[in-house]
Amino acid sequence: MAKKKSANEAQNASKPITNLKDFFIDGLKDIYWAENTLVKTIPKMLEQATDQKLKTAFKDHLAQTKMQVERLEKVFESMGVKPEGKKCLAMEGIIKEGEEIMEETAPGPVRDAGIIASAQKVEHYEIATYGTLAAFAKTLNERAALDLLLKTLGEEKKSDSLLSSIADTNLNSQAVDGKLQSKDLNAV
Ligand SMILES: [Fe+2]
Ligand SMILES: [Fe+2]
Repeated sequence: MAKKKSANEAQNASKPITNLKDFFIDGLKDIYWAENTLVKTIPKMLEQATDQKLKTAFKDHLAQTKMQVERLEKVFESMGVKPEGKKCLAMEGIIKEGEEIMEETAPGPVRDAGIIASAQKVEHYEIATYGTLAAFAKTLNERAALDLLLKTLGEEKKSDSLLSSIADTNLNSQAVDGKLQSKDLNAV
């Protein structure tokens, strides 16, 4: 039986992209889908997390992600293009993997360590994407788009560092045997 083509495959097959500007817009659609999907996913991660600092970090990043969606709409506007999402297969996979981790771990430090691991994969994907899109905006001399994309890139980098510090300061050591390890806390 012939495999049914996905919407993305059908779009790719019918219209090859032949210039950087269109490829840039295609990338904007990908991250627009990803950010909108994260607005729905972050609350699930927040709900599953136990550590208060981690919960606060997710709450803050949820508010920030909603702003990032609006910022992307401004980028589309600056390009004279209607904001539109295109399913990001990479983000879909990272989110699915995160859901699997949450199902496979006991609530508490181990699940928190797993949630941070998947959240950092999300951040790294976003950092790679915004970095590339900013470089394209620079080449295309799209100044307004460049400024907006760099602002979000900075937020994603900060968010990634915050997650690293939450994991480093106590979470990973608590996760060693699933409970607080005071000797490890003293050592850091
Ligand atoms: Fe984001
Ligand atoms: Fe992010």
